[in-house]
Formats: sequence, structure tokens, C-alpha cells
Amino acid sequence: MNGLRPQHKLRIETVEITPDAVVLIDQLALPHDERYVTCTTWREVAGCIRDMTVRGAPAIGVAAAGALALAARAAAFSGADDRAAFNAALDEAALGLAQTRPTAVNLTWAIGEMRTLWQRCDAAPQECWLTLLAGAREIHDDDIRRCHAIGAFGAPLFKAGDAILTHCNAGALATAGYGTALGIIRACHERYDGAISVFVDETRPWLQGARLTAWELGVEGIEYSVIGDSMAGHFISRGEVDGIVVGADRIAANGDTANKIGTYTLSVLAKEHGVPFYVAAPLSTVDRSVASGADIPIEERDPGEVTSFRGVQVAPVGAHARHPAFDITPQASISAIVTEVGVLRPPFDKALRRACLEGTCG
Ligand code: MRU
Repeated sequence: MNGLRPQHKLRIETVEITPDAVVLIDQLALPHDERYVTCTTWREVAGCIRDMTVRGAPAIGVAAAGALALAARAAAFSGADDRAAFNAALDEAALGLAQTRPTAVNLTWAIGEMRTLWQRCDAAPQECWLTLLAGAREIHDDDIRRCHAIGAFGAPLFKAGDAILTHCNAGALATAGYGTALGIIRACHERYDGAISVFVDETRPWLQGARLTAWELGVEGIEYSVIGDSMAGHFISRGEVDGIVVGADRIAANGDTANKIGTYTLSVLAKEHGVPFYVAAPLSTVDRSVASGADIPIEERDPGEVTSFRGVQVAPVGAHARHPAFDITPQASISAIVTEVGVLRPPFDKALRRACLEGTCG
């Protein structure tokens, strides 16, 4: 199922949904190998979400939508022309996909959008499959449109010459394309004729910053410096950072935001030093069913990912470790939330309620 794409494409194709496959850029192999994984079953896609071949909140939602189209195809061509069996197969796939990663709400949002399609489909399974395939592709294309809008709304928050700090990877690789936080950085690069630079937090332990964000910025020709996560305070305290922009995995009704572990620390630094702290996310990341960050489930990953580094043990053998993959930034530390319907300012509970009337929230 692994292979190299025949010709190099400058546009980053994170998730491609074809009638018989979901093709994913292999984010475990980047930045040194640009290779693609072709999944032909929903279970293969679920495995790729679980092992982080594909990661980033919007991207895993899009991949799950593609996986459900694959499940629909398999069920529709299984020989049984039975709608009850078709729906049961999709329910099983939806459950399996939803269990892969708990924090990013975009995953359950995309599954919910697809569920509405199969529950409303009033035709034979083979026709419903085509509806689901079109639906998954629309979720993909819609995500790119949302990212471009986020970029357009976010760029005016910065000015020519600014140095922007970002954490993890909230770029084309974390979405269907263009990115959220990196979408803003891309839009700044265009708007200010390249006169911006980026501090890229390396983002231990998975190194999404050093491996993925640095790679994307390099592809786009945007000036950047990779820094260790522990170096951010040094640069912020010396006035070298003009603003911070990060993505989000889930935004609660009050604006509290779950994002990659280490984001909260940055928000405290930003507050201490009066640096603006922006969250960039499509409304599919907003979960108004959770009142505050305290109700957002935080994924705890294998502690071995902390005690070792790319397969090499660094802590003493048997060392105890903890590995929360996300943390919560309180709404009071966020200057603005940039969405596809505009820049939301505090009080976020009211702003999010209004925004969710304008767009589709998760
Ligand atoms: O564990 P990951 O790599 O899936 O975590 C990703 C992040 O935390 C991103 O910042 C977030 O999903 C926003 S992506 C546009």
C-alpha cells in the first residue's frame, strides 16, 4: 500500500479521495521522504489516523469522510442489495473511525455529516455510495475554502516585517490544504511580499513543527527558524516575537481551546509579555456541546514516545513518563479566534454563538 507519487507536485495533497481509495501523504516519512499511502478499506484509513500517518484535526476529519465512502462502496458491492445491511456496515465503520483519536472534534463532525447523508439517502446502496463519495469530496473541498477564508481574515492581524511564532503543524498537512495557522502565515507572505518570518516550535515529542511545518514553509519559500519548545520564552521575552498563531483541535462554547501540548505554555508567555495570541480554526472545530475546556477529552498517548526519540531510548530503561497529546488554553488568554466567517473577539461565548449561526459548527 506504500508508493512514491510519480511526479513531484508543489501543491501539497494531504488527502485525496478517489472512488476506490483514500490516498494520504505519509506524514511519518516526511520531511525526508515524500511518499503516499493508498488505503482501500475504512480500516486501513482508521489505522493511518491512529498511527499518525495522517494527523491534524481537519485532515483526520476529511480522511474519515473518505473512509466512510470506502465503507459504503464495499457494502454496496457486497452482493446484498439490502439497505439495513448497508446502514449497519456504515454504522460499524463510523464507530471504528470515531474511536481512533478522541480530542479533535472535526473527526466526529465529519462522521456526523456523512451519517446524515446515508440516513437520508432514499435509494439503492450503489446510488447511496455515489452520494457519500460526493459528500466526502465536498467535505475535502469545503475545508480548503474555509482555510483560504481564515488566511484572508487573519493576515491583516499582522504587518510587514513581523516575526510570527507557531506551534505544531496547522498547515496544509493538517487540513485538506492551505492550513489554518499556516494559512494565515501563507496569506501574510503574499500580502507583505515575503516580508515576514516564522519561529517554528519543534513540538516534542512528535516534532510536527521541526518535521512538517518547517518542510511546508520551505516548500512555500517562507523564511523560518526552528526552535526547541523551551526556547520560545527566550525569544518572546526579548521582543523578537510579534504574534503567536496556533491551530485548534476543539474549541469549547466559552472559547477554551484544546491544541497540541505546549500551546497553553505559549499562551501564558504571550500574556506575560503582551504578545497577541491567536487561534485559527474552521467552525468545524467548535464544539458548543462542551461548556468549557474542562469537558474536552485529552488524548493520552504511549509514554514510550516521550522516553524515546525516533525509536532510540533516551530516558533510562523503565523510566516512568506521561504523555498528554493536547492541553487547554483558557479563553481569557486568547486575543482572537480566526474563523472562515471572520475574526472573533472576546467575549467568545457570544461571538461563537453568532458565528455558529452563520456557518457549520462541529
Ligand atoms: O497530534 P496532532 O499532530 O494531530 O495534533 C495536531 C494539532 O494539535 C494541530 O495544531 C491542530 O490539529 C490544528 S490543525 C489545523
